[in-house]
Amino acid sequence: MTEDLSKFNAAQAALEYVKDGMVVGLGTGSTSAHFVRQLGERVRQGLRVKGVPTSEATRNLAEQVGVPLLEISQVTAIDLDVDGADEVDSAFRLIKGGGGALLREKIVAAASKRMVVIADESKWVETLGAFPLPVEVTRFGFALTQTRVGEALRTSGCAGGEVVLRISGKANEPVITDGGNYILDAHAERIPDPEALAVALKNIAGVVEHGLFIGLSQVVILGKAKGADVKQI
Ligand code: A5P
Repeated sequence: MTEDLSKFNAAQAALEYVKDGMVVGLGTGSTSAHFVRQLGERVRQGLRVKGVPTSEATRNLAEQVGVPLLEISQVTAIDLDVDGADEVDSAFRLIKGGGGALLREKIVAAASKRMVVIADESKWVETLGAFPLPVEVTRFGFALTQTRVGEALRTSGCAGGEVVLRISGKANEPVITDGGNYILDAHAERIPDPEALAVALKNIAGVVEHGLFIGLSQVVILGKAKGADVKQI
């Protein structure tokens, strides 16, 4: 409950960054859902924005709460992206993709002039890696890709090397992303060199995208039970 209030407060603080007329990337996950609902309220009060959703779940929510949307094919520039994170470090490097939306989230973040990360304060870490790193891979050859992701963890100095295909609890089948791919969860435990791991993962055939977001965010808002801490690079 306190965690949910913290997420709500982080989302509320991010509204400060939204200005009339902006095109806004809408993240995925429970914290982003708070933001989308609050943005919907502002739209009802007269704010004019257009949203770019990073998942089908976010698209559905935004439609429910009345945030006007743009199709990604219509978008040439995004003013602001507001999205959650699974972990954030002091260099504003992130692990994302706990909700499986990392590919669209990264495309939108990379196209945005500014990315504001919203999270409850438990997401702030000294070293990334305790949260398993999501890696989106093609279904074709996924077991081969899985082996190579494990090698990338080891060669880039991570403490752990287990890589697990994400299975949906409900269907007991592999999770399929909005892009039609599988997710591997890489249990790095500790990632001493996120940049090196990011390069190693990108070099693997079969890896579509990984959940390390480096150099993309300029503002991190950590929600607390009362208020929020705003950190800027
Ligand atoms: C979705 O794929 C993720 O990147 C989320 O942004 C991340 O998992 C944070 O989710 P919560 O806001 O639910 O903690």
